[in-house]
Amino acid sequence: MKIFLDTADLNEIRRAASANLIDGVTTNPSLLAKVAGDGDPKDLFLEICDSVDGPVSAEVVALTADEMVEEGRRLAGLHPNIVVKVPLTEDGLQACRRLRDHQIPVNVTLCFSTAQAVLAAKAGATYISPFVGRLDDAGHEGMDVVAEIRTAYDRYDMETQILAASLRHPRHVLEAVLIGVDCATLPPKVLHQLVKHPLTDAGLDAFLADWKASGQEL
Ligand code: E4P
Repeated sequence: MKIFLDTADLNEIRRAASANLIDGVTTNPSLLAKVAGDGDPKDLFLEICDSVDGPVSAEVVALTADEMVEEGRRLAGLHPNIVVKVPLTEDGLQACRRLRDHQIPVNVTLCFSTAQAVLAAKAGATYISPFVGRLDDAGHEGMDVVAEIRTAYDRYDMETQILAASLRHPRHVLEAVLIGVDCATLPPKVLHQLVKHPLTDAGLDAFLADWKASGQEL
């Protein structure tokens, strides 16, 4: 299973990549807007691609299929690791098929139902991104949709990879792992939470205190 970092923050990406904790990065226009400032977003994408050895999702902001394809082709031309992200709309699905016909990998995002995920797979999506946390926020069981997508894709041998997104806490990640998603994208905070465990910290403190008390040196 692949772990992606869901951020455009270069410091976080470099930190996680240098610890070999991530297999790629996902971004969206909101995440990009947070860090882009006056700089050219293309430069930021290039820096992200230079910082991590794996797929980097870059989302189009156009709304029509023609414009999405045009934007997507420009984004894909920036770096071989760019995956073009398109929204799960009728135009987005059309753009997905056309981008795939140009051998460009596509992440279909803003997926909120199993039926939508099946349509994305039929459009040739490389990744489908069901948004778990946002479904939970709306009073649904977001993870149930992820499990249903797993069942549907397995039943029809659909090759689209399930990329669990909008994960808000470590429990979400564990549930996604147990369902058997192909990838999960985590905000930096959740990645840090996954690494840390209070019993690890307490155990380490005790080991070091015992060692210090012994007066020995390694
Ligand atoms: C995924 O690609 C999205 O960028 C992201 O997971 C959305 O998460 P949010 O619902 O916490 O904003």
